[in-house]
Amino acid sequence: MDISQEIAELKRRRNAVILAHNYERGEVQDVADYTGDSLELARRAAGVEADVIVFCGVYFMAETAAILNPGKTVLIPDESAGCPMADMITGEQLRKLKAEHPGAKAVCYVNSTAEVKAECDICVTSGNAERVMRTFAPDEEIIFVPDQHLGSHVAGILGAKYILWPGYCPTHAKLTPGMIEQARLAHPGAPVMVHPECPKAVRDIADQVLSTGGMCKWARETDAKTILVGTELGICHRLAKENPGKTFIPVAEHLICPNMKKTTLEKLRDCLVNLSPQVTVPPAIAIPAKRAIDRMLEVS
Ligand code: 13P
Ligand code: SF4
Repeated sequence: MDISQEIAELKRRRNAVILAHNYERGEVQDVADYTGDSLELARRAAGVEADVIVFCGVYFMAETAAILNPGKTVLIPDESAGCPMADMITGEQLRKLKAEHPGAKAVCYVNSTAEVKAECDICVTSGNAERVMRTFAPDEEIIFVPDQHLGSHVAGILGAKYILWPGYCPTHAKLTPGMIEQARLAHPGAPVMVHPECPKAVRDIADQVLSTGGMCKWARETDAKTILVGTELGICHRLAKENPGKTFIPVAEHLICPNMKKTTLEKLRDCLVNLSPQVTVPPAIAIPAKRAIDRMLEVS
């Protein structure tokens, strides 16, 4: 039996579902029941019937699944797979910021810890941020954490001004306008899609600024045959698999999120064997954090 068959057999025995983010290794995406962006995976996690959820992604994503499913076992194949951006603000720092702006609403990107979500009125993902932020009055005072780039991207679209936290994604921060220009020179006419976590100078010269789920949809619908991809390399596996007639070229080969790559088939199998590592969130944090996630799912 090869390892993929072992995983399928264990999955059946454990009554488990495997969710994988679009940046995971190709072989991990291939054994998953669902591959998607943070929003799609949160929606899946909210409607799961299986007893066990194996989350192949980074820690905050598994934590979100645990918050949405208090009675279920949530496993993460490698519990050291964190998101550095999520760790750029603590609950304590957010409480201090809120105290400095007593009338402000607090919004967090889903790339945040459960403790930070518990302090927020609502959560957003890159796939629904614009839609969710439209629910606020244009003149409302809003704290947006932790991603300064997603925050400034949405504020720019809506003509709003948010109190931004200086968090950022170290992987997307590596992308520069010069890399986009070079890729364009090498592939004239090919559209460029980038993630909203990219710096403004990069977003400003891209053709499309999309969540990873948005990129998969746009790539399916466009007539373009060659597309330049300005985000983590893992997504190219899914893009190529779903669009056999199209070519996807990474803008930069070194755009790799080391944490997304920590999940291997071996670790995935082992966590199903051992039912460990499990992700749990204490109710005092999970209950208020769930309110912020539920509000987001209601409006998006
Ligand atoms: P998506 O929600 O677009 O999948 O993004 C998640 C993420 O971590 C991007 O770095
Ligand atoms: Fe976090 Fe960036 Fe990795 Fe996404 S790509 S999980 S934001 S470090």
